[in-house]
Amino acid sequence: MTQPDDLRTIRVLGSPEGEPFFAILEHRIRRRNALTTGARAVVALVAATGLRTSGGLLEPVEARATGHSFSAIELSGEDEVLVPPGYQAVSLIIWGDPLQPGLPAFDPTAQTPELQMQRFGYNVDGLFFFPVPAGSRNSQSGVLVINHEYTNPELMFADYDAKRPTRKQVDVELAAHGLSVVAIERDDGGDWHYDVDAPYNRRLTALTEIAIAGPAAGHPWLQTSDDPSGQVVLGSLNNCSAGSTPWGTFLTAEENFHQYFANLDGIAADDPRKSVHERYGLPRGASKRLWERHYDRFDLAAEPNEPFRYGWIVEIDPYNPNSEPTKRTALGRMRHEAATTKIGYDGRVAVYLGDDERFEYVYKFVSSGRFDRTNREANIGLLDDGVLYVARFQDDGAGDWIPLVYGEGPLTPENGWTSPADVLIRTRQAADLVGATPMDRPEDIEPNPVNGRIYAVMTNNSNRSAADVHGANPRPSNRHGHIIEIAEADGDATATRFTWEIFLLCGDPAAAGDGVYAAGIDPALVSPISCPDNIAFDSRGNLWIATDGQPGTFHMNDGVYMAPTDGPERGYVRQFLSGVVGGECSSLALTPDDTTLFVCIQHPGEGSAYDAPSSSWPDHSTPPRPGVVAVTKIGAEPGVIGS
Ligand code: FEO
Ligand code: CA
Ligand code: CA
Repeated sequence: MTQPDDLRTIRVLGSPEGEPFFAILEHRIRRRNALTTGARAVVALVAATGLRTSGGLLEPVEARATGHSFSAIELSGEDEVLVPPGYQAVSLIIWGDPLQPGLPAFDPTAQTPELQMQRFGYNVDGLFFFPVPAGSRNSQSGVLVINHEYTNPELMFADYDAKRPTRKQVDVELAAHGLSVVAIERDDGGDWHYDVDAPYNRRLTALTEIAIAGPAAGHPWLQTSDDPSGQVVLGSLNNCSAGSTPWGTFLTAEENFHQYFANLDGIAADDPRKSVHERYGLPRGASKRLWERHYDRFDLAAEPNEPFRYGWIVEIDPYNPNSEPTKRTALGRMRHEAATTKIGYDGRVAVYLGDDERFEYVYKFVSSGRFDRTNREANIGLLDDGVLYVARFQDDGAGDWIPLVYGEGPLTPENGWTSPADVLIRTRQAADLVGATPMDRPEDIEPNPVNGRIYAVMTNNSNRSAADVHGANPRPSNRHGHIIEIAEADGDATATRFTWEIFLLCGDPAAAGDGVYAAGIDPALVSPISCPDNIAFDSRGNLWIATDGQPGTFHMNDGVYMAPTDGPERGYVRQFLSGVVGGECSSLALTPDDTTLFVCIQHPGEGSAYDAPSSSWPDHSTPPRPGVVAVTKIGAEPGVIGS
């Protein structure tokens, strides 16, 4: 996409010419458009016709196949989920709701681990809607899979003392982590309900046995006192963004697992495991949660290998409640974000992956085997064998995927690498050696089902200095984040080369210095947006963006936004939903017919405590309860969201 002479311009902020970055981006987009479709003229036409503000609402434009026609809402500080006129957002399932019949009503003062294991878990992050039956496009009933990233004990328990968490409180928290599978259906009136009796309903917790598969399974560093085989781990922790596979399984990403472990200084300085744990940020002393006081597995001095069993992608089959969840080690070990799939032209499967920390990397896995459309079971295990790549973004808009393969490049025995498993367990260090590009907190990375391009979300990076900026991470002190659009060579997901463009530089268009850029559309027209996190696409290729961090940047609630990715409205970002006080809009998913948007409302009231919560969402009671809302058009007849 980018021509060689753009190299100078995209060097931007370190550029001796001192040309303002946004002027340079403008040159670049103009050049790209002149070289491609002449879309600039179309953008100008849109800007000149009908997109104007009125009373704070951007007025609707005519509905288009790839655009939107809802009235954008404004940023809000209210403690309720807000959507545009004509839509409703209804709470579908919240923390503590029973997933089995016969349980007593949820009572926050009478929590037990046993009950929590049968109830919907705490913070909700990645989610996906799986139609029933598998393989159909049924948008009236299906299975919702939601992961439970972490717990806020200060909001869960009336008597929580952060310096002295009780064993029972810790056990409830362990049971509130993991993942829920829940059957849902839409009634004749157009409203969604979950089915407490459904056989699909299932909980995974931080205590559920999970298999470890792929090259690192059984490695000595994955062996513990409880599991000398190194092939079965208790539970999954800190599951964040997620994805699905073409064969109908859910991929969930273990993110900030480091926070559960304590006492790195209990490992001898000359023990090679210590520097690996350091690279992954494990704490030297006590953990914030203090779970190590009750369980040795969280104490590195007692169990130095336990953290090696986390930081993986976990695959679960939502259609089979008896299936064995499995950690797929071939996809590498990091603070995983996202695991979204796309089939290459030859049938091999690409999985896009992020490592969410400042200056970490973007990854892609490509399977060795090929997707089998005719035999679902044959695809289970496809993610156990393949090549993990890490991304290098050149300033000129080119890029390549660098393989992390034992024995290749610097990953040799001479440099201390011992096996394919070693490369995967130490994914970050392997990527450090091959010239990968440090990014601004890679969160969700997802293929657009219509235009085939890949969208990589960088949430923010306030630590990036002016000396560190480069084309793909072009802003110092990047507090608002950005989204990069990647085009794989020849459109093939298994390619090892790509080109890229900046799609969106977030911020407040009205704030001097934020420098919003929205794929070339007039920035004055777009909604203020900050800290993009998880994304999803509707079947028309429109990009839906959930944010995590607007309370810190805008002092307003997080939200959900939509932006077309093609056509005259490409880049026209408008706010569709506002979340609640203290809560992030952590994730979103659509039914196949685009008539329902499910949104996770994570950690309402975060930053406050049980006695004086800043949120009482969703039912004006204490404590606030994280959960999922279903957004639909008002009325019994389903209508396409955003159109
Ligand atoms: Fe759990 Fe990177 O968000
Ligand atoms: Ca996230
Ligand atoms: Ca997503």
